[in-house]
Amino acid sequence: MVTYRKTDEPTNGAPMTRARSIQVLSSLIFFSLILLSAPRTAMSDEAAIKRGEYIFNSSGCLGCHTDSKNKGPRLAGGRAIETPFGTFFGPNITPHKEHGIGTWSDADFIRALRDGKSPKGQHYFPVFPYTSFTKMTDEDMLDLKAYLFAQPAIERPNKPHEIKFPFGWRFLMLGWKILFFDSGTIEKIEGKSDSWNRGAYLAEAQAHCGECHTPRNIFGGARSALKYAGTLDGPDGDLAPNITPDKSTGIGKWSADDLAKLLSTGELPWGDEVSGSMAEVIEEGTGRMTESDRRAIVEYVRDLPPVEQKLVPPKK
Ligand code: HEC
Ligand code: HEC
Repeated sequence: MVTYRKTDEPTNGAPMTRARSIQVLSSLIFFSLILLSAPRTAMSDEAAIKRGEYIFNSSGCLGCHTDSKNKGPRLAGGRAIETPFGTFFGPNITPHKEHGIGTWSDADFIRALRDGKSPKGQHYFPVFPYTSFTKMTDEDMLDLKAYLFAQPAIERPNKPHEIKFPFGWRFLMLGWKILFFDSGTIEKIEGKSDSWNRGAYLAEAQAHCGECHTPRNIFGGARSALKYAGTLDGPDGDLAPNITPDKSTGIGKWSADDLAKLLSTGELPWGDEVSGSMAEVIEEGTGRMTESDRRAIVEYVRDLPPVEQKLVPPKK
């Protein structure tokens, strides 16, 4: 206001001048809002959606939330996920206001991924890999939300999970979280390269390699001493191999190029194609990443502590 007052005018009791300057100012603000912020918001929205799409692919959100087996609509839920604790159905995460997440605020969305908690305060089951997504930054989560909210809203009610007693009690998840869940983003490790840190972020927070390659205890908590050392009880009961750099039981004999090629094309060093859920991870996720992001994951995985663990499937 000061700038609009002539110096010879009294400093107080000049209602007309003040009223006019407020008018001038507010119309200035009004027009600058129209001229500047409106197009800028639209532009930054588009950029956020684009960034969000990349994170969405890297994080494999599509698979569990689309019933592709039964040709269900994209992201509208219903995909059955078999676990030792029962069958879970990925919910509708389209922006539908009643059946999807269309009414969620930014804070609701961040709470779901960071803390595994619904807007009503219920605890999610860790089949939803928030145990990994918690490590994402707020910015990445909000880009992800921008992308999801730009997808078509689909009217499709959620299917209730079919969980074995007593695992279905959501409140028990609080105890589970206290034992097995640390919320919060990943810290940058000083002394490691930028690409190593990028690889750690992609592998741990987004691509959640450990959700399948780290064995779990009988309560479904990750056994951190065996990080990435493989499990017989992988997704859909498949074996997920040891991918630590152990030379005899892991992938220690693979070259960096071998691993980069697998993550890009699904081709194994001995010429076979990888199958099952890993094929999906590559098709939707790592195969769509930039080469430098794939190389970052390779650098990180090859630098993990080698763990000797031989997985022998029981004879049928
Ligand atoms: C391995 C399967 C899986 C993956 C991968 C996955 N989700 Fe989910 N998600 C689930 C399941 C199952 C639930 C339901 C959990 C529950 O009911 O406790 C869920 C719940 C949610 C919810 C809460 C929905 C609601 O109505 O309360 C949101 C939001 C969500 N997921 C978003 C995502 C996003 C974003 C990604 C990718 C970053 C993702 N999910 C990846 C399986 C998955
Ligand atoms: C949804 C579960 C899942 C996720 C997530 C996942 N994997 Fe896998 N991965 C598997 C399964 C299952 C196999 C075995 C596939 C087969 O037998 O053909 C596998 C195989 C592999 C192999 C081949 C190892 C060998 O000895 O044959 C490598 C390497 C690998 N994964 C690395 C990764 C990396 C790196 C990530 C994270 C970017 C990752 N995986 C994420 C389930 C997963």
